[in-house]
Amino acid sequence: MKAIIPAAGLGTRFLPATKCSAKELLPVLDKPVIQYVVEEALEPEGVDGVVIVNSHAKPEMERYFSVDEGFEAMLHDSGKDALADAVHTASTLPVSFVYQDEPLGLGHAVHCAAEEVGDEPFFILLGDYFVPDRQMCVNMARVSKEHGNASVIAVAPVPADQVSRYGIIAGECVGSLPGCEATGEEEGAVWKISGLVEKPAPEEAPSHLFIVGRYLLSPAIMDLLATQGAGAGGEIQLTDAMERLLETEEMYALVVDPNEGCDTGTPAAWAATNARMALADDRFRSAFLEELGDAIKGLLD
Ligand code: G1P
Repeated sequence: MKAIIPAAGLGTRFLPATKCSAKELLPVLDKPVIQYVVEEALEPEGVDGVVIVNSHAKPEMERYFSVDEGFEAMLHDSGKDALADAVHTASTLPVSFVYQDEPLGLGHAVHCAAEEVGDEPFFILLGDYFVPDRQMCVNMARVSKEHGNASVIAVAPVPADQVSRYGIIAGECVGSLPGCEATGEEEGAVWKISGLVEKPAPEEAPSHLFIVGRYLLSPAIMDLLATQGAGAGGEIQLTDAMERLLETEEMYALVVDPNEGCDTGTPAAWAATNARMALADDRFRSAFLEELGDAIKGLLD
């Protein structure tokens, strides 16, 4: 079973930093963003490979996941074994690449990995968000199993004035994660989806539950994507193909707390994610607070 990470974007929001380096390789502390997403993708049982949908403009992405024996030997020779091991780890991850060279939309990006996925269900993890405890996809797989291996997506409540930024679902709450009493829009509630709409106007949104960026989908979606026309923003939308999938298959949504995950999609969110991860990591916490000391004091005075 595969997981797809669409990562062909040009990182416009991070220019000029992304002029000659992929935004997915921006560090969160000492690891690039994409490695957190790859490691999260490999967490659910049965996932044996990650397919990154890249663009040929970012060859450094493949280089990061390739072995560099000379560099590793140099680190070992200078006694930096732990660093050599850290560098080596990325090359041991089961990552492969396909290419999307035109920005035709998320649905098109996902379809670029159709051959790699084959006729098995697969995950999609949007690459500018990662979940440190890696449990979101694991829980989605549990919901899928409970419902005959149906497709499951993660959703979360969003204020009415923000629905037009996201994919929004229609449906009703039909239960919860095993061992959890959640109902309605509470974390852990499970909805049966009856419709999906990409970036609706607030008055047309069928609910306030937005698609967070974690999907476990039936392979039938790939055939639908092959014929999917352009939708919102003139792009081939994954949401529109999922709406068509509902004609033949059931689909469920798991309500999650989006703050379980870290956003790296904008410079401000990326900076906040670095701060959050530094505070949660024993290796960095005290040095980080010390570095920040005076700056924070100034703000509090
Ligand atoms: C994409 C999806 C949308 C989803 C969002 C989550 O939109 O099309 O349904 O809610 O990701 O981040 P994009 O952010 O690419 O416009």
